[in-house]
Amino acid sequence: MSIVIDENLGLFTLHTHSSTYQIKVGPYGFVLHTYYGPRIDGEDLSYLLPRRSMSFSANPADTGSDRSFSMDSQPQEYATYGATDYRESALQVTGPDGAAYADLRYDGFECCAGKYGLEGLPALYGEGFDTLKLYLIDAHTGLRVTLLYGVLEQEDVITRAALIENRGTAPLSLDRALSLCLDFPTSDYDLYTFHGRHCRERIPQRTPLPHGKLRVDSLRGASSHQYNPFIILCDRSASEDAGCCYGASLVYSGSFLAQAEVDQAGATRLVMGIHPDTFRWSLAPGDVFTVPEVCLTFSGEGLTGLSHRLHRAFRDHLCRGKFRTARRPVLINSWEAVYFDFDSDKLVEIARSAAPLGVELLVMDDGWFGKRDDDNSGLGDWVVNEKKLKGSLAELARRVNECGLGLGIWIEPEMVSEDSDLYRAHPDWCLHIPGRAGSRSRNQLVLDMGRSDVQDYLLASISDVLRSANIAYVKWDMNRHLTEVGSAVLPAGRQGEAGHRHILGVYRLMDRLTAAFPDILFEGCSGGGGRFDAGMLYYTPQIWCSDDTDAAERLIIQYGTSFGYPISTVGSHVSVCPNHQTGRTTPLRTRGVVAMAGTFGYELDISRMSEEEKQEVSAQVALYKRNYTLINQGDYYRLSDVMAQSDYAAWLFVSPAQDRALFNFVQRYAQAASPGFRIRLKGLKPQARYRIGDTGLTLSGAALMGAGLYLPPMDGDYGAVQWEIEEI
Ligand code: GLA
Repeated sequence: MSIVIDENLGLFTLHTHSSTYQIKVGPYGFVLHTYYGPRIDGEDLSYLLPRRSMSFSANPADTGSDRSFSMDSQPQEYATYGATDYRESALQVTGPDGAAYADLRYDGFECCAGKYGLEGLPALYGEGFDTLKLYLIDAHTGLRVTLLYGVLEQEDVITRAALIENRGTAPLSLDRALSLCLDFPTSDYDLYTFHGRHCRERIPQRTPLPHGKLRVDSLRGASSHQYNPFIILCDRSASEDAGCCYGASLVYSGSFLAQAEVDQAGATRLVMGIHPDTFRWSLAPGDVFTVPEVCLTFSGEGLTGLSHRLHRAFRDHLCRGKFRTARRPVLINSWEAVYFDFDSDKLVEIARSAAPLGVELLVMDDGWFGKRDDDNSGLGDWVVNEKKLKGSLAELARRVNECGLGLGIWIEPEMVSEDSDLYRAHPDWCLHIPGRAGSRSRNQLVLDMGRSDVQDYLLASISDVLRSANIAYVKWDMNRHLTEVGSAVLPAGRQGEAGHRHILGVYRLMDRLTAAFPDILFEGCSGGGGRFDAGMLYYTPQIWCSDDTDAAERLIIQYGTSFGYPISTVGSHVSVCPNHQTGRTTPLRTRGVVAMAGTFGYELDISRMSEEEKQEVSAQVALYKRNYTLINQGDYYRLSDVMAQSDYAAWLFVSPAQDRALFNFVQRYAQAASPGFRIRLKGLKPQARYRIGDTGLTLSGAALMGAGLYLPPMDGDYGAVQWEIEEI
């Protein structure tokens, strides 16, 4: 058991393979946090808790004349607003008296093997977890909080979530209910955040913690392109290969807050959860609110170690269904090939030219349903446009299948166009505020997914389509953020619930659809990578990483994404040049190498490629299939800092047995008189000997990792090298 409990001491010690997390029931029954860091024996660390009188830090009423105890300086598991802690709180509750106040004290525990589940919310699951439940109570109101801890020893993962229950007799209002409150005694850390915009997601930024609050967030109703709900706190000296790093990934896809606060005493508090600014939840007597999960990971071996642990945890304990392990097809997507301008003959032509090259699935992207020849109409009408397809979907699937490919389709369930039969029939089904005009984005409105009639309609209409033909894949898109977040089915006093209810509705629909069609591969998408979060990975084992398909740009986007998310989840395609987003031209070889650091596929009109290009595609597909397990289940090493170095990018996949590797290199910005590149590999067996691609070289792991490889400079920008490395 990874959880050690000393009831006499009120001590709860959670051990993972290389970390320890400790909780102490402190004076007056407050639930305090004593430690999170490299594994220790589990001795009581409560001697570290600060005891000092601080002016202007108030003392709880029951401390009497003891001025040395204030929640303003105590490290806590779930800080509340209203009493003596002035730092960012995890919980804020308004009672029947109208006052914002909560005072939580320890009220018992439970511990068991296995993982707790969260009703209606995504969460990590599976073998290897132990669960600790800590009960806290506010005796005045009857508010009971259950803090949930899931310990996955092998991957150094600790998950946290909470249940908030009104056991009193009067209604309560939850004004904030965050997932994480994690206090550290010092502030000598850097914080990694991941920022961006449409077509430029998850750009890493490393900032030394300043005094005050360093936050990233989303008020967009989706986790967003702009900031990702994943952060890393690390030692100032932490590097890829050394130092303590703490990852926190929110398993949630809506508006969020993630923040590090350095307080007056130089201590650090991390908080993370549903964004409190737009959240309010009524808790009637007997009601329980479920707080989403956050996944914590610790690495004492730098950022690479952190990524490896998270990659494995998400691959094995978050992604679900058949395609968690089954090989996913190499696909060709119609979007950048033909956009809205296609019919079935054109699609079959693409499938026919892709088949001999080893491509296995054709995705018919946007434009196949309702009235949809551009992005101004049709969303919500999930009925096949048989005129455009010149026949049924079943007929198209049959023709594509005859070419040897599976057929996939695109959907965007959460949206509605005003020019649609659905909107004409149910104008009140979208999020809106009565009397106010709705804002448009991409000329579309957002359905109120919290409504069960909306969910039922979408389930039925999309299921009908999926049942009508042999469909092997679905791309689930979401192309605008939320505005006018009001629901026609909620009373005025509960409109603060609309945003979270919307996400719960999205999850419910995803759960039902993916359960009804277990053989279909679902890929998430939101204008590219606008909803690339751990919540979505529970329903879709891969997510389109970005609408920017330019290989040079993808080097940065995929580099940033790799810190928190496994390669098997990163949707990545080879597209045409000049690239449609940047106008840049990169060699086909390079586009292939870059797209192989992901789910791999194509997004161009293969029927227009030259014979020479087709041969190259064929070789790429064969290489990808040969290395599928290595890429998708192996360990991924960043061999360069793409943000700091403009001259090249390199990365490596190593098999779990360390007997195979795939080395990838892109020369980014060619320099005159360049001496070439020396790149040290990682993760190999020092004593083993390896054959390096077609170089004729055989070298020991020690030489490859100590001395490295040499790559001569190439003429021009964006040349690529890819070597399969094998133990001999
Ligand atoms: C979004 C997606 C694209 C494509 C279009 C279709 O932008 O990210 O890949 O599916 O929608 O409208």
